[in-house]
Amino acid sequence: MRLTCTVNGRRREVDDVWPGESLLFVLRDRMSLPGSKNACEQGECGSCTVYLDGLPVCACLVAAGQAEGRDVVTVEGLATGDGPDGLDPVQRAFVDAGAVQCGFCTPGLVVAAHDLLRRSPRPADPEIREALAGNLCRCTGYEKIMDAVRLAADRIAAAAVR
Ligand code: FES
Ligand code: FES
Repeated sequence: MRLTCTVNGRRREVDDVWPGESLLFVLRDRMSLPGSKNACEQGECGSCTVYLDGLPVCACLVAAGQAEGRDVVTVEGLATGDGPDGLDPVQRAFVDAGAVQCGFCTPGLVVAAHDLLRRSPRPADPEIREALAGNLCRCTGYEKIMDAVRLAADRIAAAAVR
């Protein structure tokens, strides 16, 4: 099939797609967007989290055919923030808080945290933990990740009152 969808604000067309292959495979191997990671390929780890029509999903569980005509935003697509480096505040906070070690879980966590802060700009710790419960990290012990989300929330709130 020919898959046509919008990815990170751009209309994309890809030919010879098998409808049952994963959206994650399409993004990484057919569209050269390797930000979303393939860690478990069975919906367990959250490393492949992307937005599909504005909702976070595990791209490894979405069949390519299901993405036809829809809007996909990957971790690469978030990097349009106003900061000097162009990173989204959530991305910047993960770097600044030291929440990245091997980085395999980071793209999915960034998208999940981005979604949380859109819905709930000042989340309490239990809310952060619940929002990120589907994203597994084998390296950081999660405290730095919590720090990153708190830092991003603080910075977004500070920027809003300027
Ligand atoms: S790679 Fe998709 S949930 Fe782990
Ligand atoms: S930083 Fe390595 S899995 Fe999270």
